Amino acid sequence: THQWRGIIEEYRDRLPVSDTTPVVTLREGGTPLVPAQVLSERTGCEVHLKVEGANPTGSFKDRGMTMAITRAKEEGAKAVICASTGNTSASAAAYAVRAGMVCAVLVPTGKIALGKMGQALVHGAKILQVDGNFDDCLTLARGLSDNYPVALVNSVNPVRIEGQKTASFEIVDMLGDAPDIHVLPVGNAGNITAYWKGYTEYVADGVASRTPRMWGFQASGSAPIVRGEIVKDPSTIATAIRIGNPASWQHALAARDESGGFIDEVTDREILRAYRLLASQEGVFVEPASAASVAGLLKAAEQGKVDPGQRIVCTVTGNGLKDPDWAVAGAPQPVTVPVDAATAAERLGLV
Ligand code: F0G
Repeated sequence: THQWRGIIEEYRDRLPVSDTTPVVTLREGGTPLVPAQVLSERTGCEVHLKVEGANPTGSFKDRGMTMAITRAKEEGAKAVICASTGNTSASAAAYAVRAGMVCAVLVPTGKIALGKMGQALVHGAKILQVDGNFDDCLTLARGLSDNYPVALVNSVNPVRIEGQKTASFEIVDMLGDAPDIHVLPVGNAGNITAYWKGYTEYVADGVASRTPRMWGFQASGSAPIVRGEIVKDPSTIATAIRIGNPASWQHALAARDESGGFIDEVTDREILRAYRLLASQEGVFVEPASAASVAGLLKAAEQGKVDPGQRIVCTVTGNGLKDPDWAVAGAPQPVTVPVDAATAAERLGLV
């Protein structure tokens, strides 16, 4: 009876919890680090995918949410609130169920994937669709938590970052040391902040000998960090990272500069190409925003920025099932056949 106990129990000594903290967990973390054969061949490197879609609610948000809801419970909160492009709300809704709390979520009207909306609904969250974008939702959520009895569980809550940093620990624990390069999609910039914190803590404690260079990628229509200015009306098919004013902007710049990395952009076309490559050639089905990391790696390789022989980890942040529209769109329609082996064999090209 040995199963992964969730990130708080597995990394208890590295997280802000005490013996009496009431841990709220769905046994998140412990996600697969999958060798990526095709990406390795294309880049001449050793590429791994950190498959965060394998978390209980299908995204990396569960790592931060187990911490945020645990802390809210410890502090006696009865209700939590978040702004979200979909994954944070799905995760908050699920963990609030475990904690017996009310969960309120603010999402941009019409701009979150159906699977994520379904998760928040089925977990019983109170959902408000806001006439605005994610940045407006976050402003509203902050205001509500300042003035009403409801705890904010967005990544501006520092314990979220604490939980999410455990992904770096898992990677170092698995590989024996940090990779040369770590590649991530960037939206609100909490995750790149968290990974960098995890890597630097492991070096400070002598568990790892070095930190990786951090490479972050935003969607071109939503690339405020790349442009160096707020994007008022962000757009991208990767709705999870459709964000024009990232809350952790300064931390992302610090991660970039301290690690000797960079933050660049990828177009929706590049994102969708990487999305299809991951599914059709690596067997890993991710949501479009997650493919931004891989799209970025391929772009960097084409630009000659990737020296061969390096060890590279790309985080793929969310499960493809959350937003299957992009898998179906443009794909050939399945052929319908009668219950007849000869016809089926013929249609399958077996004869
Ligand atoms: N990938 C996915 C699938 C996401 O859902 C997010 C963020 C990111 C990448 C970017 O991570 O914000 O830490 O830079 N989703 C948030 C949400 C905004 O509300 O679910 P980040």
